[in-house]
Amino acid sequence: MQRLWNEKFSREGYLYGKTPNVFLSSYIDGLDSSSSILFLGEGEGRNACYAAMHGHSVIALDASDIGLKKAQELASDLDVDIKTLHIDLTHWETEVHYDAVMTSFLHLKEPLRTLAFGKAISALKPSGVFVAEFFSIKQLPLQSGGPKDPELLYTVASLKEILDRSDTEIVRLEEVVDSLDEGRGHQGDAELIRVVVRKR
Ligand SMILES: C[S@@+](CC[C@H](N)C(=O)[O-])C[C@H]1O[C@@H](n2cnc3c(N)ncnc32)[C@H](O)[C@@H]1O
Repeated sequence: MQRLWNEKFSREGYLYGKTPNVFLSSYIDGLDSSSSILFLGEGEGRNACYAAMHGHSVIALDASDIGLKKAQELASDLDVDIKTLHIDLTHWETEVHYDAVMTSFLHLKEPLRTLAFGKAISALKPSGVFVAEFFSIKQLPLQSGGPKDPELLYTVASLKEILDRSDTEIVRLEEVVDSLDEGRGHQGDAELIRVVVRKR
């Protein structure tokens, strides 16, 4: 897994561009100033750098050291500070609580998916938000991006099972078709799932 993403991120340029995912950035814009945000599977750092540019305190977690090195280079080019955490989510534990945990296109198989997203919710402060965008299983035949292994793709029902807990309110959990313009990695109409969960 680390080798696969290191290979992808070793190529020239930024695979998903240097500008943030549009859905995540709309929620970053709405956060209180100086919020703490953890980005999971943040790769080359486009969302983390955007959040840091807006004054938030940011940690970018990823299993790819090459991705995180490029994230630090982007932060340096933009003259902002981000912290990076090089770890596979399989081994991730946290005692720290965040105002927000966000992720774009982090595609995990079960049982890691339930484990990692459960920990992400547990890592939220009261009223903190988990914000995510993923490819739906309906993306499988499309060529606009995303994994080609169905076990890595999501359904609303499978995410609801993980996110619907006594300590959460699901604010948004919907399938949408939208056009992506994110580097050479994501281009064109895509079948997406968007998630916003608030910790009680
Ligand atoms: C499709 S890329 C998305 C990168 C970034 N979120 C973005 O949208 O630009 C998926 C990312 O998830 C990371 N990832 C996948 N599985 C992981 C795991 N088990 N632990 C940590 N990171 C993981 C990969 O290294 C990669 O950076």
